[in-house]
Amino acid sequence: MTDTPIAEARAVLPMGELAPHAEGPALIEATEAGRQLALGWRNGDRARFPLTWLRDHCACAECRHPMTRERLYMALEVPERAPATELEDGNLILTWADGHVSRFDAVWLHQRRPGQAREDAVPARRPWAPDYRPTRVDHADFVAGAEGERAWLTALLRDGLVLLENGPLADEEVSRLAGRIGPLRATNFGARFDVQSKPNPNNAAYTAIGLALHTDLPNWRHPPDIQLLYCLENDAEGGESTFFDGFAAAEALRRQDPEAFRRLAETEIDFRFQDEGHDLVWSAPLFSLDEQDRVVEVRLNNWIRDTLRLPLEEIDAWYDAYRVFWALAQDPRNRLEFSLAPGEMVAFDNRRVMHGRNAFDPSTGRRHLQGTYLDLDMCESRLRVLARQA
Ligand code: OGA
Ligand code: ZN
Ligand code: ZN
Repeated sequence: MTDTPIAEARAVLPMGELAPHAEGPALIEATEAGRQLALGWRNGDRARFPLTWLRDHCACAECRHPMTRERLYMALEVPERAPATELEDGNLILTWADGHVSRFDAVWLHQRRPGQAREDAVPARRPWAPDYRPTRVDHADFVAGAEGERAWLTALLRDGLVLLENGPLADEEVSRLAGRIGPLRATNFGARFDVQSKPNPNNAAYTAIGLALHTDLPNWRHPPDIQLLYCLENDAEGGESTFFDGFAAAEALRRQDPEAFRRLAETEIDFRFQDEGHDLVWSAPLFSLDEQDRVVEVRLNNWIRDTLRLPLEEIDAWYDAYRVFWALAQDPRNRLEFSLAPGEMVAFDNRRVMHGRNAFDPSTGRRHLQGTYLDLDMCESRLRVLARQA
């Protein structure tokens, strides 16, 4: 066990942790520096690693399960003494005081210098610019292999929206496409829902009325992340789809009216859905911010916004802020509007991008979309797996 060759040590690292193109510099120097080890690579990069960290990341079969590659070692003990160090083919071998041997690949260590960000195939989110046009991916490319699906996922995660075109007019195609990526996220409307006007609707979407920009299910603690809407029929008059990047809109509000932005980000309001079998209610602000004050989620849905329960002196100010944001979200320069054609599917980040539709006239034709949701985690996971194969 202690004589695991470096190649094997590399192989037992958690899959995908080592970039597949892992070309990189060899180690040329390893010196003890108190409770740390100072390393130097051939390209001139240097870094220090705490001994505890090195011991914790040992990849031998005792420290990581050889099949699952998950960690077995628990870093409870502080290494008493510095290990003996040795460089072999530019890789690092440590022999600890108790005789345990740890082998580290030089490139693996180089990618993990303290302070170094994790490499990721998942792109950073990019707010829509005024000239933003959605990426379109052909259905045939999506199903043919990694390339099309990768392009689709990259655009979806970066822009929060992507279009698929030239798909078949097949019932459940949306489920088949979504199923490649992950399990469908079920809600009180089912795992897969039909958007068409229905005789006894329990939701505005199931009528022919227009739907103002909104996010789905803000009345859930964890609203669905990614929404897919697949168009099967759309020949009624009207019914155009509308989209607005909620992050860009929130940022525009922050610039234009910082006080209104604060109020909407700091005031929790209730969203609620009730029908015969359900009563789902959750309180949250319109914008959720992270510790760096960045907008990380938008929740907006005027028809399931519940009674506004606020202290009297806050009520008018909240409505004023809401109106300012609402006016801004109507700005045609930042709003997408187009008709989905049969065989087209739009996918978007429901916790970022607001969506809506114009009213349609059911006496002039039919409109039928099939929808489902996916978790963002599964979309990111799928993209990393596809990137690993490339
Ligand atoms: C929905 C919805 C949009 C549409 O079902 O949540 O917003 O185009 N539908 O019908
Ligand atoms: Zn070990
Ligand atoms: Zn919706």
